[in-house]
Amino acid sequence: MAFTDLQAKARRHLWPHYTEMSRVEDGSLPVIVRGDGCTVEDAHGRRFLDGLAGLFCVQIGYSHGAEIGRAAAAQLEELPYYPNWSYAHPRAIELAAEVADLAPEGLERVFFVSGGADAVETAWKLACQYHQERGERRWKVVSRHMAWHGTSLGALSINGVPGARLPFEPLVPGAVRTRNTARFRRPAEETDAQFCAFLLDDLEQAILREGPSSIAMVIMEPVQNVGGALTAPAGYFEGVRAICDRYGILLCADEVITGFGRMGEWFASTRYGIRPDLITCAKGLSSGYAPIGAVIASEEMAAPFLERGSMFLHGLTFGAHPVSAAIALKNLEIMRRERIVEHVAENQGAFEATLRQLLSLPIVGDIRGGGFFYTIELVSDPDTRETFDAEQSRRILHDFVSPRIFDSGLICRTDDRASPLLQLSPPLIAGQAEFDRITAILGDALTEAGKLLP
Ligand SMILES: Cc1ncc(COP(=O)(O)O)c(C=O)c1O
Repeated sequence: MAFTDLQAKARRHLWPHYTEMSRVEDGSLPVIVRGDGCTVEDAHGRRFLDGLAGLFCVQIGYSHGAEIGRAAAAQLEELPYYPNWSYAHPRAIELAAEVADLAPEGLERVFFVSGGADAVETAWKLACQYHQERGERRWKVVSRHMAWHGTSLGALSINGVPGARLPFEPLVPGAVRTRNTARFRRPAEETDAQFCAFLLDDLEQAILREGPSSIAMVIMEPVQNVGGALTAPAGYFEGVRAICDRYGILLCADEVITGFGRMGEWFASTRYGIRPDLITCAKGLSSGYAPIGAVIASEEMAAPFLERGSMFLHGLTFGAHPVSAAIALKNLEIMRRERIVEHVAENQGAFEATLRQLLSLPIVGDIRGGGFFYTIELVSDPDTRETFDAEQSRRILHDFVSPRIFDSGLICRTDDRASPLLQLSPPLIAGQAEFDRITAILGDALTEAGKLLP
Protein backbone atom coordinates (compact mmCIF):
# COMPACT_ATOMS: atom_id res chain seq x y z
CA MET A 1 0.00 0.00 0.00
CA ALA A 2 1.37 3.44 -0.93
CA PHE A 3 2.47 5.67 1.95
CA THR A 4 -0.20 8.29 1.27
CA ASP A 5 -2.89 5.58 1.45
CA LEU A 6 -1.41 4.25 4.69
CA GLN A 7 -1.39 7.74 6.12
CA ALA A 8 -5.01 8.33 5.13
CA LYS A 9 -6.09 5.02 6.67
CA ALA A 10 -4.08 5.67 9.85
CA ARG A 11 -5.68 9.11 10.15
CA ARG A 12 -9.11 7.57 9.92
CA HIS A 13 -8.72 4.29 11.83
CA LEU A 14 -5.56 3.81 13.87
CA TRP A 15 -5.42 4.58 17.57
CA PRO A 16 -1.74 4.27 18.51
CA HIS A 17 -0.59 3.67 22.08
CA TYR A 18 0.66 6.59 24.19
CA THR A 19 0.72 8.83 21.11
CA GLU A 20 -0.79 12.28 20.71
CA MET A 21 -3.60 12.03 18.15
CA SER A 22 -2.24 15.22 16.59
CA ARG A 23 0.69 13.13 15.30
CA VAL A 24 -1.68 10.82 13.44
CA GLU A 25 -3.60 13.82 12.15
CA ASP A 26 -0.54 15.73 10.93
CA GLY A 27 1.07 12.64 9.38
CA SER A 28 4.21 12.83 11.54
CA LEU A 29 3.74 9.34 12.99
CA PRO A 30 6.65 7.29 11.58
CA VAL A 31 5.56 4.18 9.70
CA ILE A 32 8.25 1.52 10.11
CA VAL A 33 8.12 -1.02 7.32
CA ARG A 34 11.12 -3.35 7.70
CA GLY A 35 14.21 -4.11 9.73
CA ASP A 36 17.55 -5.88 9.62
CA GLY A 37 20.30 -6.19 12.22
CA CYS A 38 20.05 -3.15 14.51
CA THR A 39 18.36 -1.06 11.81
CA VAL A 40 14.76 -0.29 10.91
CA GLU A 41 13.47 1.49 7.82
CA ASP A 42 10.46 3.76 7.46
CA ALA A 43 7.99 4.06 4.61
CA HIS A 44 10.14 6.79 2.99
CA GLY A 45 13.17 4.48 2.90
CA ARG A 46 14.91 6.35 5.75
CA ARG A 47 17.02 4.00 7.87
CA PHE A 48 17.38 4.32 11.63
CA LEU A 49 19.70 2.71 14.12
CA ASP A 50 17.26 1.34 16.66
CA GLY A 51 18.72 2.44 19.97
CA LEU A 52 15.66 1.19 21.86
CA ALA A 53 15.30 -2.35 20.41
CA GLY A 54 11.69 -1.61 19.49
CA LEU A 55 10.43 -1.18 23.03
CA PHE A 56 13.33 -2.71 25.00
CA CYS A 57 12.63 -6.11 23.46
CA VAL A 58 14.28 -7.02 20.14
CA GLN A 59 17.26 -8.77 21.74
CA ILE A 60 18.39 -10.66 18.60
CA GLY A 61 17.84 -7.75 16.20
CA TYR A 62 15.65 -7.74 13.12
CA SER A 63 17.35 -10.31 10.85
CA HIS A 64 15.96 -13.58 12.20
CA GLY A 65 12.44 -13.32 10.77
CA ALA A 66 12.93 -16.12 8.24
CA GLU A 67 14.30 -18.64 10.75
CA ILE A 68 11.72 -17.74 13.38
CA GLY A 69 9.05 -17.71 10.68
CA ARG A 70 9.87 -21.33 9.80
CA ALA A 71 9.41 -22.34 13.45
CA ALA A 72 6.10 -20.45 13.56
CA ALA A 73 4.92 -22.01 10.27
CA ALA A 74 5.80 -25.53 11.48
CA GLN A 75 3.83 -24.91 14.68
CA LEU A 76 0.86 -23.54 12.74
CA GLU A 77 0.80 -26.67 10.62
CA GLU A 78 1.14 -28.97 13.63
CA LEU A 79 -1.18 -27.26 16.13
CA PRO A 80 -2.20 -23.62 15.53
CA TYR A 81 -3.94 -23.19 18.84
CA TYR A 82 -4.71 -24.95 22.03
CA PRO A 83 -5.13 -23.45 25.48
CA ASN A 84 -2.91 -24.00 28.44
CA TRP A 85 -6.10 -24.00 30.47
CA SER A 86 -7.01 -27.53 31.64
CA TYR A 87 -4.67 -28.84 28.90
CA ALA A 88 -1.03 -28.60 27.92
CA HIS A 89 0.79 -28.79 24.60
CA PRO A 90 4.40 -29.65 23.82
CA ARG A 91 5.72 -26.12 23.20
CA ALA A 92 4.33 -24.83 26.51
CA ILE A 93 6.01 -27.67 28.37
CA GLU A 94 9.31 -27.33 26.50
CA LEU A 95 9.37 -23.56 26.96
CA ALA A 96 8.58 -23.84 30.67
CA ALA A 97 11.53 -26.22 31.09
CA GLU A 98 13.81 -23.94 29.05
CA VAL A 99 12.86 -20.79 30.98
CA ALA A 100 13.26 -22.59 34.31
CA ASP A 101 16.70 -23.74 33.17
CA LEU A 102 17.76 -20.15 32.45
CA ALA A 103 16.15 -18.66 35.58
CA PRO A 104 18.01 -18.22 38.87
CA GLU A 105 18.24 -21.34 41.02
CA GLY A 106 15.06 -22.39 42.77
CA LEU A 107 12.70 -20.70 40.30
CA GLU A 108 11.20 -23.71 38.59
CA ARG A 109 7.51 -23.18 37.86
CA VAL A 110 6.43 -21.08 34.84
CA PHE A 111 2.98 -19.56 34.22
CA PHE A 112 2.70 -18.08 30.72
CA VAL A 113 0.83 -14.89 29.89
CA SER A 114 0.53 -12.50 26.93
CA GLY A 115 2.86 -9.68 27.99
CA GLY A 116 4.44 -7.65 30.77
CA ALA A 117 1.36 -6.13 32.44
CA ASP A 118 -0.30 -9.55 32.37
CA ALA A 119 2.75 -10.95 34.13
CA VAL A 120 2.58 -8.27 36.84
CA GLU A 121 -1.17 -8.81 37.37
CA THR A 122 -0.58 -12.55 37.53
CA ALA A 123 2.25 -12.21 40.04
CA TRP A 124 0.04 -10.08 42.29
CA LYS A 125 -2.81 -12.59 42.18
CA LEU A 126 -0.46 -15.51 42.64
CA ALA A 127 1.11 -13.85 45.68
CA CYS A 128 -2.35 -13.24 47.22
CA GLN A 129 -3.50 -16.79 46.60
CA TYR A 130 -0.20 -18.27 47.81
CA HIS A 131 -0.75 -16.58 51.18
CA GLN A 132 -4.36 -17.68 51.21
CA GLU A 133 -3.40 -21.30 50.55
CA ARG A 134 -1.25 -21.02 53.67
CA GLY A 135 -4.08 -19.58 55.72
CA GLU A 136 -3.18 -15.89 55.54
CA ARG A 137 -5.10 -13.00 54.00
CA ARG A 138 -2.60 -10.61 52.38
CA TRP A 139 -3.42 -8.37 49.43
CA LYS A 140 -1.17 -5.29 49.34
CA VAL A 141 1.84 -4.71 47.09
CA VAL A 142 4.80 -2.41 47.65
CA SER A 143 6.44 -0.91 44.56
CA ARG A 144 8.83 1.99 44.04
CA HIS A 145 8.10 5.59 43.07
CA MET A 146 8.14 6.14 39.30
CA ALA A 147 8.59 2.42 38.55
CA TRP A 148 6.74 1.27 35.43
CA HIS A 149 4.89 -2.02 35.76
CA GLY A 150 2.30 -1.81 32.95
CA THR A 151 -0.99 -0.14 32.15
CA SER A 152 -3.86 -2.60 32.72
CA LEU A 153 -5.75 -1.61 35.86
CA GLY A 154 -4.04 -3.98 38.30
CA ALA A 155 -0.58 -3.36 36.92
CA LEU A 156 -1.37 0.36 36.74
CA SER A 157 -2.26 0.37 40.43
CA ILE A 158 1.24 -0.95 41.14
CA ASN A 159 2.76 1.42 38.57
CA GLY A 160 4.65 4.21 40.32
CA VAL A 161 4.29 6.85 37.59
CA PRO A 162 1.63 9.30 38.87
CA GLY A 163 0.84 10.78 35.45
CA ALA A 164 -0.08 7.35 34.10
CA ARG A 165 -2.37 6.56 37.05
CA LEU A 166 -4.17 9.81 37.72
CA PRO A 167 -7.00 9.79 35.15
CA PHE A 168 -7.99 6.27 36.20
CA GLU A 169 -8.08 6.62 39.98
CA PRO A 170 -9.35 5.18 42.22
CA LEU A 171 -7.48 2.06 41.17
CA VAL A 172 -7.14 -1.36 42.81
CA PRO A 173 -6.68 -0.73 46.54
CA GLY A 174 -3.60 -1.91 48.36
CA ALA A 175 -0.77 -0.47 46.26
CA VAL A 176 1.89 1.06 48.49
CA ARG A 177 4.94 3.06 47.36
CA THR A 178 8.50 3.24 48.64
CA ARG A 179 11.53 5.23 47.50
CA ASN A 180 13.43 4.31 44.37
CA THR A 181 17.23 4.28 44.13
CA ALA A 182 17.70 7.63 42.31
CA ARG A 183 21.08 8.84 43.52
CA PHE A 184 22.04 11.74 41.28
CA ARG A 185 20.63 14.43 43.55
CA ARG A 186 21.38 12.86 46.92
CA PRO A 187 23.92 14.69 49.11
CA ALA A 188 27.43 14.35 47.64
CA GLU A 189 28.91 13.23 50.98
CA GLU A 190 26.41 10.40 51.45
CA THR A 191 28.11 6.98 51.31
CA ASP A 192 26.73 3.89 49.60
CA ALA A 193 26.05 2.33 52.99
CA GLN A 194 24.19 5.43 54.25
CA PHE A 195 22.10 5.64 51.08
CA CYS A 196 21.31 1.95 51.29
CA ALA A 197 20.25 2.23 54.97
CA PHE A 198 18.08 5.24 54.12
CA LEU A 199 16.27 3.33 51.36
CA LEU A 200 15.78 0.19 53.42
CA ASP A 201 14.44 2.21 56.33
CA ASP A 202 11.91 3.83 54.00
CA LEU A 203 10.79 0.40 52.79
CA GLU A 204 10.48 -1.00 56.29
CA GLN A 205 8.59 2.07 57.54
CA ALA A 206 6.13 1.77 54.64
CA ILE A 207 5.56 -1.88 55.50
CA LEU A 208 5.09 -1.13 59.21
CA ARG A 209 2.74 1.76 58.45
CA GLU A 210 0.56 -0.45 56.24
CA GLY A 211 0.62 -3.44 58.57
CA PRO A 212 3.12 -6.14 57.56
CA SER A 213 0.57 -8.95 57.73
CA SER A 214 -1.50 -7.26 54.99
CA ILE A 215 1.36 -7.14 52.48
CA ALA A 216 1.53 -9.92 49.91
CA MET A 217 4.58 -8.87 47.90
CA VAL A 218 7.23 -6.29 47.13
CA ILE A 219 7.89 -5.74 43.41
CA MET A 220 11.05 -4.12 42.06
CA GLU A 221 12.92 -3.97 38.78
CA PRO A 222 16.57 -4.97 39.18
CA VAL A 223 17.37 -1.75 37.28
CA GLN A 224 14.48 0.72 37.33
CA ASN A 225 13.70 2.10 33.89
CA VAL A 226 11.66 5.25 34.59
CA GLY A 227 13.88 7.73 36.38
CA GLY A 228 16.70 6.50 34.16
CA ALA A 229 18.37 3.08 34.51
CA LEU A 230 18.45 3.34 38.30
CA THR A 231 20.78 0.78 39.81
CA ALA A 232 20.81 0.06 43.53
CA PRO A 233 23.62 0.66 46.03
CA ALA A 234 25.59 -2.33 47.28
CA GLY A 235 23.66 -4.31 49.87
CA TYR A 236 20.25 -2.99 48.84
CA PHE A 237 18.70 -6.16 47.44
CA GLU A 238 20.11 -8.27 50.29
CA GLY A 239 18.44 -5.78 52.64
CA VAL A 240 15.14 -5.92 50.74
CA ARG A 241 15.24 -9.72 50.89
CA ALA A 242 15.89 -9.62 54.66
CA ILE A 243 12.96 -7.23 55.23
CA CYS A 244 10.65 -9.41 53.12
CA ASP A 245 11.73 -12.50 55.08
CA ARG A 246 11.23 -10.70 58.41
CA TYR A 247 7.57 -10.02 57.59
CA GLY A 248 6.72 -13.08 55.46
CA ILE A 249 6.41 -10.97 52.30
CA LEU A 250 7.17 -12.33 48.81
CA LEU A 251 9.71 -10.58 46.61
CA CYS A 252 9.00 -10.22 42.90
CA ALA A 253 11.72 -9.08 40.49
CA ASP A 254 10.04 -7.38 37.53
CA GLU A 255 12.42 -8.40 34.75
CA VAL A 256 10.20 -7.39 31.85
CA ILE A 257 13.05 -5.22 30.56
CA THR A 258 16.09 -6.69 32.31
CA GLY A 259 15.29 -10.36 31.58
CA PHE A 260 16.83 -12.31 28.72
CA GLY A 261 20.24 -10.76 28.51
CA ARG A 262 19.86 -7.00 28.72
CA MET A 263 22.12 -6.74 31.76
CA GLY A 264 24.63 -9.36 30.54
CA GLU A 265 23.04 -12.28 32.40
CA TRP A 266 19.94 -14.24 31.40
CA PHE A 267 18.25 -12.59 34.37
CA ALA A 268 19.49 -9.47 36.13
CA SER A 269 18.46 -11.03 39.45
CA THR A 270 21.54 -13.23 39.06
CA ARG A 271 23.78 -10.23 38.41
CA TYR A 272 22.52 -8.30 41.42
CA GLY A 273 22.07 -11.25 43.81
CA ILE A 274 18.35 -10.53 44.25
CA ARG A 275 16.96 -14.00 45.20
CA PRO A 276 13.31 -13.31 44.28
CA ASP A 277 10.35 -15.62 44.92
CA LEU A 278 8.85 -14.55 41.60
CA ILE A 279 10.11 -13.10 38.34
CA THR A 280 7.87 -11.34 35.85
CA CYS A 281 9.18 -11.29 32.30
CA ALA A 282 8.01 -10.74 28.71
CA LYS A 283 9.63 -8.67 25.91
CA GLY A 284 13.00 -10.43 25.38
CA LEU A 285 11.49 -13.90 25.92
CA SER A 286 10.53 -13.84 22.23
CA SER A 287 12.72 -10.85 21.27
CA GLY A 288 9.38 -9.21 20.52
CA TYR A 289 8.77 -11.61 17.59
CA ALA A 290 5.55 -12.77 19.33
CA PRO A 291 3.51 -11.53 22.28
CA ILE A 292 4.34 -13.71 25.27
CA GLY A 293 5.29 -13.20 28.90
CA ALA A 294 5.69 -15.33 31.99
CA VAL A 295 5.72 -15.46 35.75
CA ILE A 296 8.45 -17.72 37.06
CA ALA A 297 7.76 -18.89 40.60
CA SER A 298 9.90 -20.59 43.19
CA GLU A 299 9.34 -24.17 44.24
CA GLU A 300 8.27 -22.85 47.65
CA MET A 301 5.51 -20.84 46.02
CA ALA A 302 4.20 -23.83 44.11
CA ALA A 303 4.42 -26.09 47.18
CA PRO A 304 1.09 -25.21 48.88
CA PHE A 305 -0.75 -25.64 45.57
CA LEU A 306 0.94 -29.01 44.97
CA GLU A 307 0.37 -30.20 48.55
CA ARG A 308 -3.32 -29.39 48.44
CA GLY A 309 -3.75 -30.23 44.76
CA SER A 310 -5.40 -26.84 44.37
CA MET A 311 -5.78 -24.61 41.34
CA PHE A 312 -4.38 -21.11 40.81
CA LEU A 313 -7.56 -19.16 40.05
CA HIS A 314 -6.24 -17.37 37.00
CA GLY A 315 -6.13 -18.00 33.26
CA LEU A 316 -5.81 -16.39 29.86
CA THR A 317 -6.98 -17.69 26.49
CA PHE A 318 -3.62 -16.84 24.95
CA GLY A 319 -1.35 -17.90 27.83
CA ALA A 320 1.40 -20.07 26.27
CA HIS A 321 -0.13 -19.72 22.79
CA PRO A 322 1.56 -22.53 20.79
CA VAL A 323 2.85 -20.21 18.06
CA SER A 324 4.19 -17.66 20.57
CA ALA A 325 5.78 -20.49 22.56
CA ALA A 326 7.40 -21.95 19.41
CA ILE A 327 8.75 -18.49 18.54
CA ALA A 328 10.09 -17.95 22.07
CA LEU A 329 11.80 -21.37 21.97
CA LYS A 330 13.44 -20.51 18.66
CA ASN A 331 14.46 -17.10 19.98
CA LEU A 332 16.14 -18.65 23.01
CA GLU A 333 17.85 -21.20 20.76
CA ILE A 334 19.24 -18.35 18.63
CA MET A 335 20.31 -16.43 21.72
CA ARG A 336 22.21 -19.45 23.02
CA ARG A 337 23.69 -20.31 19.62
CA GLU A 338 24.89 -16.77 18.93
CA ARG A 339 26.10 -16.24 22.51
CA ILE A 340 24.02 -13.07 22.77
CA VAL A 341 24.12 -12.85 26.56
CA GLU A 342 27.90 -13.41 26.61
CA HIS A 343 28.21 -10.71 23.93
CA VAL A 344 26.47 -8.21 26.23
CA ALA A 345 28.65 -9.20 29.19
CA GLU A 346 31.79 -8.82 27.08
CA ASN A 347 30.81 -5.52 25.40
CA GLN A 348 28.95 -3.60 28.08
CA GLY A 349 32.18 -1.94 29.24
CA ALA A 350 32.93 -0.72 25.70
CA PHE A 351 29.38 0.62 25.31
CA GLU A 352 29.55 2.51 28.59
CA ALA A 353 33.06 3.84 27.90
CA THR A 354 31.97 5.11 24.48
CA LEU A 355 28.88 6.82 25.90
CA ARG A 356 30.92 8.37 28.70
CA GLN A 357 32.72 10.54 26.14
CA LEU A 358 29.51 12.60 26.25
CA LEU A 359 30.24 13.59 29.85
CA SER A 360 32.57 16.28 28.46
CA LEU A 361 29.44 18.18 27.32
CA PRO A 362 28.18 20.58 30.03
CA ILE A 363 24.55 19.61 29.32
CA VAL A 364 25.25 15.96 30.24
CA GLY A 365 24.98 15.54 34.00
CA ASP A 366 25.10 11.79 34.42
CA ILE A 367 25.43 8.54 32.48
CA ARG A 368 24.29 5.44 34.31
CA GLY A 369 23.09 1.90 33.82
CA GLY A 370 24.79 -1.33 32.85
CA GLY A 371 24.61 -4.13 30.30
CA PHE A 372 23.05 -2.70 27.15
CA PHE A 373 20.76 -0.38 29.13
CA TYR A 374 21.89 3.20 29.78
CA THR A 375 20.48 6.61 30.58
CA ILE A 376 21.92 10.03 29.93
CA GLU A 377 20.57 12.66 32.31
CA LEU A 378 20.61 16.25 31.10
CA VAL A 379 21.16 19.28 33.33
CA SER A 380 20.88 23.00 32.79
CA ASP A 381 23.91 23.61 35.05
CA PRO A 382 26.62 20.96 35.48
CA ASP A 383 27.96 22.45 38.73
CA THR A 384 24.67 22.64 40.62
CA ARG A 385 23.09 19.67 38.74
CA GLU A 386 20.09 21.94 38.21
CA THR A 387 17.49 20.12 36.13
CA PHE A 388 15.38 21.57 33.29
CA ASP A 389 12.28 23.56 34.10
CA ALA A 390 9.09 22.74 32.17
CA GLU A 391 9.82 25.34 29.50
CA GLN A 392 13.37 24.02 28.91
CA SER A 393 12.09 20.49 28.82
CA ARG A 394 9.62 21.37 26.09
CA ARG A 395 11.90 23.68 24.12
CA ILE A 396 15.15 21.73 24.39
CA LEU A 397 14.26 18.09 24.95
CA HIS A 398 11.02 17.76 23.00
CA ASP A 399 11.25 20.43 20.33
CA PHE A 400 14.98 20.19 19.60
CA VAL A 401 16.83 17.09 20.87
CA SER A 402 14.16 14.54 20.07
CA PRO A 403 13.61 15.50 16.38
CA ARG A 404 17.32 16.20 15.85
CA ILE A 405 18.26 12.68 16.97
CA PHE A 406 15.52 11.11 14.88
CA ASP A 407 16.40 13.15 11.80
CA SER A 408 20.03 12.05 12.24
CA GLY A 409 18.94 8.42 11.98
CA LEU A 410 18.77 7.25 15.60
CA ILE A 411 15.78 6.00 17.56
CA CYS A 412 16.09 6.39 21.30
CA ARG A 413 13.71 7.59 23.99
CA THR A 414 13.62 11.09 25.36
CA ASP A 415 11.78 11.10 28.67
CA ASP A 416 11.07 13.82 31.21
CA ARG A 417 8.67 12.03 33.56
CA ALA A 418 11.25 12.19 36.36
CA SER A 419 13.96 14.45 34.86
CA PRO A 420 15.23 15.08 31.30
CA LEU A 421 16.67 11.78 30.10
CA LEU A 422 17.78 9.95 26.99
CA GLN A 423 17.32 6.21 27.25
CA LEU A 424 19.30 3.64 25.31
CA SER A 425 18.55 -0.04 25.04
CA PRO A 426 19.73 -1.27 21.62
CA PRO A 427 19.39 -4.82 20.28
CA LEU A 428 21.79 -7.09 22.13
CA ILE A 429 23.76 -7.75 18.94
CA ALA A 430 25.02 -4.14 18.80
CA GLY A 431 28.80 -3.67 18.67
CA GLN A 432 31.38 -0.91 18.59
CA ALA A 433 30.13 0.48 15.24
CA GLU A 434 26.67 1.00 16.78
CA PHE A 435 28.11 2.41 20.04
CA ASP A 436 30.15 4.92 18.01
CA ARG A 437 27.22 5.94 15.84
CA ILE A 438 24.87 6.37 18.82
CA THR A 439 27.48 8.48 20.61
CA ALA A 440 28.24 10.60 17.54
CA ILE A 441 24.56 11.38 16.88
CA LEU A 442 23.88 12.18 20.54
CA GLY A 443 27.08 14.21 20.77
CA ASP A 444 26.01 16.38 17.85
CA ALA A 445 22.45 16.87 19.14
CA LEU A 446 23.56 17.61 22.71
CA THR A 447 26.31 20.02 21.62
CA GLU A 448 23.70 22.05 19.75
CA ALA A 449 21.18 21.67 22.58
CA GLY A 450 23.75 23.10 25.02
CA LYS A 451 23.73 26.33 22.99
CA LEU A 452 20.02 26.72 23.73
CA LEU A 453 20.65 26.94 27.46
CA PRO A 454 20.97 30.41 29.00
C1 LIG B 1 9.34 -3.33 34.14
C2 LIG B 1 8.10 -3.43 33.31
N1 LIG B 1 7.07 -4.15 33.76
C3 LIG B 1 5.94 -4.29 33.04
C4 LIG B 1 5.80 -3.69 31.81
C5 LIG B 1 4.55 -3.86 31.01
O1 LIG B 1 4.79 -4.65 29.90
P1 LIG B 1 3.74 -4.67 28.67
O2 LIG B 1 3.89 -3.37 27.97
O3 LIG B 1 4.21 -5.85 27.85
O4 LIG B 1 2.40 -4.88 29.26
C6 LIG B 1 6.86 -2.94 31.29
C7 LIG B 1 6.75 -2.29 29.99
O5 LIG B 1 7.64 -1.65 29.49
C8 LIG B 1 8.05 -2.81 32.06
O6 LIG B 1 9.08 -2.08 31.62
